[in-house]
Amino acid sequence: MKRMAIVLAAGQGKRMKSKLYKVLHPVCGKPMVGHVLQTVEKVRCERSVVVVGHGAEAVRSYLGDAAEYVLQEQQLGTGHAVKQAKDLLGHEQGSTLVICGDTPLVTAETLESMLELHETSKASATVLTAHMDNPKGYGRVIRGEAGDVLRIVEQKDCSPEEDAVREINTGTYCFDNAKLFSALEKVTNQNAQQEYYLTDVIGIMKEAGEKVLAYQTDDHTESIGVNDRLALSQAESFMRERIARYHMLNGVTIIDPASTYVGADVTIGADTILNPGTILKGNTVIGEQCEIGPQSEIEDSVIGDRVTVKHSVLNRAEVGESSTVGPFAYLRPGSKLGEHVKVGDFVEVKNSTIDDGSKVSHLSYIGDAKVGKNVNVGCGAITVNYDGYNKFVTEIEDDAFVGSNVNLIAPVKVGKGAFVVAGSTITHSVPENDLAIARIRQENKPGYAEKIRARARAKKNSQSQS
Ligand code: UD1
Ligand code: CA
Repeated sequence: MKRMAIVLAAGQGKRMKSKLYKVLHPVCGKPMVGHVLQTVEKVRCERSVVVVGHGAEAVRSYLGDAAEYVLQEQQLGTGHAVKQAKDLLGHEQGSTLVICGDTPLVTAETLESMLELHETSKASATVLTAHMDNPKGYGRVIRGEAGDVLRIVEQKDCSPEEDAVREINTGTYCFDNAKLFSALEKVTNQNAQQEYYLTDVIGIMKEAGEKVLAYQTDDHTESIGVNDRLALSQAESFMRERIARYHMLNGVTIIDPASTYVGADVTIGADTILNPGTILKGNTVIGEQCEIGPQSEIEDSVIGDRVTVKHSVLNRAEVGESSTVGPFAYLRPGSKLGEHVKVGDFVEVKNSTIDDGSKVSHLSYIGDAKVGKNVNVGCGAITVNYDGYNKFVTEIEDDAFVGSNVNLIAPVKVGKGAFVVAGSTITHSVPENDLAIARIRQENKPGYAEKIRARARAKKNSQSQS
């Protein structure tokens, strides 16, 4: 049977008190509507229509080609929102999944089970429900004496008996597509919020003698609808647990899941250890047998196998296998480290490649540089890449040795196998295998230290006598 999906994402989300549109608020680094659409894709929906309104352009540009869009100009309720998809989907035959853009924790497994129940029992509507100890704010599922679903009542329209019901509407449903759009015609806004409720479709179908089912998930975390920042933090913590569990079951050791944050789109190889205080964000990829952390933040970076990163910050960086980073290193965008590279303590790298086997062990700044293989950059050596107006490139070729506290004033090149003496300020290129020394020659004044001390003693004596 053909499957379609409608994702409701037009609301402003007033209760978020935010300039950012509700469905774009991230949970574990990914906008809520992104989670929802990705989940919908997993259950093989042939068409996905996102209803946009508030922040339409922002939502569209975030989701891109992943969906079709309809605009709901005025937010008159969830039923009105679904109706906007009629022009696109009204003529289709099949099952239509309707899901809210603010329920990021619904899983594909649950959607699949619900769709299977719906399709095999030829229901007209199946609603995803959950039991909640504190159901405040959610629509309640009202069942008849035989246990069949009669209708859904919104919190604000509940009688005291209905208010006591603990089974809630998660806001996810499957419908027979044609019956959905014809029932929507009968929905009115005669209710506490004067909105066209999608939930009324359930009662309308039931009264018309249609088969209406409920599929109850036993994982209450799935049903969180994020309306405010409190729910956002709950969603974050449930999602975080779920992500950590997934990686641990795939062979990743997470020493302290409570202090480890792994984004929804991060991949991590087996036998990697995440130490406390590790934060992995964006599209970061971590290889196998790595040791990450403690206290490291890695964003949109690609880390090879057997890499160690301690107490460091990496952003849009690449680190080749068996390299070590930190403690206290900062790899900024465009940093590319080869294999067996060492970037040690208090080293900053920006827009530079450092090739296999090279070492920048302590207190360096490497910016806009091309560093070859097996290069040694001594303690405190830096590239001087910026003259206040423009950035310039430094090249250090294979096997070169740059002594401690060297300033490489770019544009400049240190040739293959060259040797730059410690303390030099290099203003023009050093040919292959040459030695460069660029500092004032040292002069020793014999016995001068004692002379200075004697003078100081004499001065002190004359002051104490006067
Ligand atoms: C809705 C359900 C409620 C359910 C809860 C689950 C209705 C009437 N109520 O309530 O039974 O328990 O979800 O989380 O459906 N939206 C639009 N256009 C609109 C209004 C809303 O696109 O005109 C979108 C919102 O962006 C949001 C979703 O629909 O993503 C749900 O709307 P929201 O206002 O959050 O509904 P709830 O009050 O949470
Ligand atoms: Ca909601």
